[in-house]
Amino acid sequence: MSRALSSPERVSESTRLRIDEAVRVTGYTPNQSARSLRQKTARTILVALPDIGNPFFSAILDSIEREASMRGYGVLVANRFSAEDSGRRMRDYFLSNRVDGLLLFDGAVDLAQLMLLTGDPTPVPLVVVCEQIAAAPFHTVRTDNCYAAECATRYLIELGHLRIGHIRGPVNNVLTGEREAGFRKAMGDAALTVREDWLFWGSFDMDAGYAAGLRFAALKDRPTAVFAANDESAIGFLSALHRHGITCPGDVSLVGFDDLEIAAHTQPPLTTMRQPREALGRIAAGALIDVIEGQRKSRLPMNMVLSSELIIRDSTARAPALFEAALMLPHA
Ligand code: RIB
Repeated sequence: MSRALSSPERVSESTRLRIDEAVRVTGYTPNQSARSLRQKTARTILVALPDIGNPFFSAILDSIEREASMRGYGVLVANRFSAEDSGRRMRDYFLSNRVDGLLLFDGAVDLAQLMLLTGDPTPVPLVVVCEQIAAAPFHTVRTDNCYAAECATRYLIELGHLRIGHIRGPVNNVLTGEREAGFRKAMGDAALTVREDWLFWGSFDMDAGYAAGLRFAALKDRPTAVFAANDESAIGFLSALHRHGITCPGDVSLVGFDDLEIAAHTQPPLTTMRQPREALGRIAAGALIDVIEGQRKSRLPMNMVLSSELIIRDSTARAPALFEAALMLPHA
């Protein structure tokens, strides 16, 4: 029965029909652990996250799990991957045959360790998701972070804002660099100055956004709009504004990045760049399983870039007209 279920093409049509009927009557389900032992595969993929506390990952994990389970795979999750001896953890998972492949969301992982795992003669199936690992030949599924950040900033400029600040992500993070580059590109194209005192360091979390908001509140000369590198920082920033009686969008317009579920329920609801999280998870999991099962025809690394979408809500408004116009006047 088990051979007929795992390789239906190898049995005759009449046998297959009899087996289908037996499965229906008995409610038989194959024992996956026994099958894994025999085939020396775990039928499990590992998802390595930088911060499971960021709700950005929930919708992605949901679609990874759906796709994996549809194809007969389970999912393990490892958190704070690059922060805690990622090399040893990766080796542990793979050498003990607990997983067949890795979906890596953490671009800060030790590249040398990764190359050891992915190099010949027994390369480990790997897809890098959301982040990118520069100059490394890995399959990648991500959004166009630089262009999306440029569009978010351009939207603020189209609203008439000429004084725009930016809350960055963590230092040495590839997404921080790409989103800041997009911000700078839009500012440069509009011949607007990027002021160092309006660039706030963050770490993709609410506390850092809140700290950026406190620094913003302490400024004598403030920007009229801010582009935050992700929603969590934008939400922390809003909270600090509220504490200091600064209104959004009255005193400052704000755009985030991600479109978390909560972005529609903040006060005010947050304008943000939506990343296609369901598609990111589904496509990445599907691609990884294709690699594990040897179904990818090309040996070249896949580089799939998905588009994001600007979701306009109430945290953005036209720039205060008189103020911006006065700034445009030549100095006396
Ligand atoms: O890893 C944290 C951030 O990276 C998320 O908020 C999201 O923007 C992702 O791309």
